[in-house]
Parts: sequence; C-alpha cells; structure tokens
Amino acid sequence: MEDGQQTIEKWSSRAGDEWSVERTSCLGLCDRAPAVLVEDEQAGPVEAKEAVKVCNGWRGTPTDYSEVRKGEVRVMTSLIGKIDPDSIEDAMANGVYDGLKKALQTNPEAVLTEIETSGLQGRGGAGFPVGRKWRFVANEKRTPRYIICNADESEPLIFKDRVLIDTNPHQLLEGMTIAGYAAGASEAWIYIRGEYEYQARRLENAIDQAETKNLIGEDILGSGFSFKIHVHRGAGAYICGEETALIESLEGKRGEPRLRPPYPPQFGFRGRPTAVNNVESFCAVPHIVKNGAEWWRSLTNAPTPGTKVYMVLGHIKNAGLFEAPFGLTLREIIEAFGGGMEKGSKFQFALCGGAAGTIVDSTMLDVPIDFASSQKGISLGAGSFLICDRSISPVAFLREILHFFTAESCGKCTPCRVGTWRALEILNRMTSGKGQKGDKDELATLAALMQDSSFCGLGQSVAIPIKSALTHFGSEFVKAEH
Ligand SMILES: Cc1cc2nc3c(=O)[nH]c(=O)nc-3n(C[C@H](O)[C@H](O)[C@H](O)COP(=O)(O)O)c2cc1C
Ligand code: SF4
Repeated sequence: MEDGQQTIEKWSSRAGDEWSVERTSCLGLCDRAPAVLVEDEQAGPVEAKEAVKVCNGWRGTPTDYSEVRKGEVRVMTSLIGKIDPDSIEDAMANGVYDGLKKALQTNPEAVLTEIETSGLQGRGGAGFPVGRKWRFVANEKRTPRYIICNADESEPLIFKDRVLIDTNPHQLLEGMTIAGYAAGASEAWIYIRGEYEYQARRLENAIDQAETKNLIGEDILGSGFSFKIHVHRGAGAYICGEETALIESLEGKRGEPRLRPPYPPQFGFRGRPTAVNNVESFCAVPHIVKNGAEWWRSLTNAPTPGTKVYMVLGHIKNAGLFEAPFGLTLREIIEAFGGGMEKGSKFQFALCGGAAGTIVDSTMLDVPIDFASSQKGISLGAGSFLICDRSISPVAFLREILHFFTAESCGKCTPCRVGTWRALEILNRMTSGKGQKGDKDELATLAALMQDSSFCGLGQSVAIPIKSALTHFGSEFVKAEH
C-alpha cells in the first residue's frame, strides 16, 4: 500500500506547479474518502489519477443518503433527500419549525421539563443529559446567557454533524432556538471547523432565511422571545471540540482547555452561563417537542432513549451513515446495517466510538452498545464504528491513532504532551521491527498515567484505545517486542 508521502507526490506531479499539495489531518470526509480539500472546497472520493479534473473544478460525488437502509428508524435524518436544504419554504412545508412554534405557545419551563423527561443525552460523546445542562443554565441568575453549538467534529471517523447540517440546516437552527427559549438565552454561536466552509455558508444562508421569516431574531413570531445565531469558523484543531477550549477559541484566545469547575453552565462564554451542545443533540430537540417525551422514550428498550445517528466504515460492504435506536450490537451494525464484511474479509477488530474509542475483538460482537456500555468494554462515543479485517495489524493501527493524538495534543500539560510522544515512539519502533522487551508494559504504564493525570479529556481518553488494544490483542504487542 502506498504511504501518505507517495500519495502527495503523485498528486503534486499530476496537478502541476500551479498547485501546492499538502498533507492534512482529518477532513471530516470519511464517507467520501479518498478526500481532499481544494481551496476550501470538499472533494471526494477522488484519486490522484483524477488530479487534473479536480484542479479544473470536479469535486467527486457526495454520498447520497436518501435511500433508507433496512432496519433504520429515521427521525433526525427523516428529510434527507426529501427537501432542498437551502430552501426554508421546503423545510417548513415538511414540518421544520413546527417544534419551535409549539414551544413558543407553551412556556420555557414546560419545554425544559419535556426535554428532561425525554432523557435526551448529549451526542458529542459523553452522553450528559441535555435537559439537566439547560436547567443549570436556566437556574443561573446572571444574564445574558448563551447557547453554543459544537460543530467542531474534528475526531477521525466522525462526520454525522456535517451530514445533518448538509441535509437539513434548519432543523439545527430550530433546535438551538428552542434551547435558547428553554434556558433563557438570548444569543448563540455555531462553532464549526474551518474545513466545513461549505457547511458554514449553508448555515449562514439558512440563518438569513430564518430571520426573514422571523423564526430567529427579534420578538420571534410575536412571542416576545428574541434570539440571534452566529456562525464562527474554527481554525482546525481537535482540542477546540473540547467545550472549554472551544469557548476560549471563540473568545479569540488560544484554544486550550480551562480548569473545571466552574463548568460552562456557570462560567462559559465571556464568563456567562452557557450551554454547549453537539449538533445532533440540538437536531433531536424539535422532534421531542413536537411528538412528546414519551414518544422519544418509546423508540427503544435500551437504557438510552431515542435514536442515534451511527457511522460505519472499513472492511464492510455498505459504509456510511444511518439512524437507528440505541442498543445495537456490533454484529448488527456490521451485518444488518453495514451489509456484512467485504468479500474475502474476516472480522478481526473494530474501533468503536471514534479515534478515542475502544478497540475490540470478536468477543464483544453481541454486547448492546449505548452510553453505559463502555463499562462493559465497548464504547459508543460519537457513534462511529471502523471495522477492520485480518489484513490490519492492531499494533500498526494503534500507532496511527497515536500519531493523531500526538499531533493534536495542545501541549498545555506534561502527561499528554510527553505521554503521547513516548507512546508513539514505542509504537514506531514496534512497527518497524525494533521493538524492545517491556514495550507492552511501558505502553500500559503510559496509558494509566495519561488517564490519571492529564488536564483534559483529550489526554485522558488516549488511554482508551491503548488499554483496549492491549486487552484484546496483547499477544500481538508481545510479538512486536522482538
Ligand atoms: C478532545 C475533545 C474533543 C471533543 N470534540 C467534540 C466535538 O467535535 N463535538 C462535540 O460535540 N463534542 C466534542 N467534545 C465533547 C465536548 O467537550 C462537550 O462535551 C460536548 O460538546 C457537549 O455536547 P453534548 O452534551 O450535546 O454532547 C470533545 C471533547 C474532547 C475532550
Ligand atoms: S490533556 Fe492534552 S490536550 Fe488536554 S490540556 Fe493536556 S496537553 Fe492539552
């Protein structure tokens, strides 16, 4: 297989001297891989042999999700392919903003109670109850209060928020406006990664349209409630997805995490009460308001209520995104939704959740997955599952993950800044035939140290793929020591 440098050389030679080709980290385009960014425009799938076409404006074919997979329960994705995402008229004709209208006819307390009763859990990875967070903000006496939508989505394997924005941007604006109403907030920001320029423009257009219809802005639909939404582009750093680093960045400072407590609901943007939620969390809200908390709870028997937008990738037949209730097993994700393993491929392991997820072997195929299942050794995270067959070495795979974390560690604290480098060094030698006796134990020690003493979730969660890989594939690591 060619390495990254060879790919760059191929692209450079075909694109010609007018173009500069650079290596990049995650683009949020897993479902369009191989992908490139051409002067802020997303392209994929595209190969180096198509470089001239790409330089002339061709951008590949975006994945089409209008076809519903067998077993899907579509709520947040229900209008994919059914509306023109850039037309508010089309969105409204299909029920978007009905949730907001209903909310404005009741009172903020009733909306807050509905979201709390629904049991909606945040979709950025940690699963914190959305209603509880809004309650913290609403209970703060100080104003103004703020809402922030976390659209940073910089973790490799995650691209659901991009698809949600691309297919129904008004659903997100509606959810954020309801959040503002419930929590007593007056202004909001969507913090979106810089690589999503196309989606940022789409959101700005949607905001303009919603303002024209008085669905955002002053005295919304004569309710007396006013709410503004802005779009802010990040500069491309995974750490800026961590909510306090995001707030620092939004305030114009270097994107580094803050010491917590105080948490953002008490001390957030500009020191004010702030609710930070993921794109998907906001997208679920209008449906709960419209159909009721009990309906949301009835969608699954799993401990986590409602549906989830999942991503499945790797050596399976039908990669991409789908929506289904919580509680799916890995086997169901692979067989029922992913179409099974690719021809000739045999399952070896899966990375579950995202880059900071668990690496598991076939013993975990039948464990129902939700926010609580990480205690059983399989994580949901932001909902992505990378399925790998026996052609992939777990040791080399873990090396790639550490390469990402080493590059993205913000450097503020020593355990993560140095620990990620040391782990990468060990994995580099293990994968180049220069492993040393004790390397496996050294990796385990570093993982424990990063988990216990890193300043924020980035360093703490590096331990998750390391520990799980050592648990399930310990013998491979021992082999790589010699
Ligand atoms: C390193 C790091 C990166 C993160 N990236 C994201 C992200 O891209 N999107 C996101 O919603 N949450 C991300 N989070 C989680 C956020 O800090 C926060 O918990 C989340 O935005 C809260 O929203 P939710 O409760 O709706 O999930 C990240 C956390 C860490 C530690
Ligand atoms: S854990 Fe890593 S990302 Fe977080 S503050 Fe420390 S160095 Fe920065």
